[in-house]
Amino acid sequence: MLILGKQVAADTRAQLALQVKDFEQKYRRKPCLAVIIVGEDPASQTYVRNKIKGCAEVGMASLSYEYGATTPQAEIAAKLKELAADPDVDGILVQLPLPEGFDEKYLLSLIPDSKDVDGFSPTNMGLLAMGRPRTISCTPFGIMKLLESTGTTLKGKRAVVIGRSNTVGKPMAMLLLNADCTVTVCHSKTVGLAEIASQADILVAAIGKPRFVTADMVKDGAIVIDVGINRVDGKLVGDVDFEAVKDKASFITPVPGGVGPMTITMLLANTLQAAIKAEEDR
Ligand code: GUN
Repeated sequence: MLILGKQVAADTRAQLALQVKDFEQKYRRKPCLAVIIVGEDPASQTYVRNKIKGCAEVGMASLSYEYGATTPQAEIAAKLKELAADPDVDGILVQLPLPEGFDEKYLLSLIPDSKDVDGFSPTNMGLLAMGRPRTISCTPFGIMKLLESTGTTLKGKRAVVIGRSNTVGKPMAMLLLNADCTVTVCHSKTVGLAEIASQADILVAAIGKPRFVTADMVKDGAIVIDVGINRVDGKLVGDVDFEAVKDKASFITPVPGGVGPMTITMLLANTLQAAIKAEEDR
């Protein structure tokens, strides 16, 4: 069965729009997300455009700042400091990856934990690792919502995450562990990856290699979550060989229309939560 991320995202956004309306009535302002993009990477430009569009869709305000790849880092740092101090800005996001020559760790460190709507800060990652999550990284957070939408119990299930990035693989593994799954993380140096993957009740593919997960790597009845967005011959394909795997899986996310729409939705949810927290703490 297909997990229709697009539909789950639309339902979640409709709920968010109502919560945003309540927020605005109560606090006489809109929650606001500030987005910074550096360079001209077309995929990043599309993501940022969709994030801004998503804000408007649920009634939130947004600010976007575009910088050329040769902009001095100090200029971007100054903007981040200004946004960090601005009480009208609830969430700050620096679109990754940054062009070569920029110090990602330094620039991200200028975003206060309270405005880190990506959930990338050491504090937010650390809290998640300790089972006390505050702001959760958007893609894995969205995947948890998709798993929830299947009605499957996660407790005691064997979960295998392929990929160990700070943005997806690691926080995904921690969320599944917090949900009482038995979690294995595989990566490019894993020996016997196919065998390990084939034992998974829940298989999350986040490696960035088109059609990497083949049918022999999937257990009958597994839930397969495909995080990949790869462009092959002008077409978007996931990290899973969808056609070969779809009949083995009990549930599978399509690409496009699976995980992707949830990522931005959870970013909007994180921004609203940051805004509510900011108002409660004033
Ligand atoms: N680049 C790819 N995914 C993401 C994301 O979730 N957040 C940011 N800031 N950059 C990204």
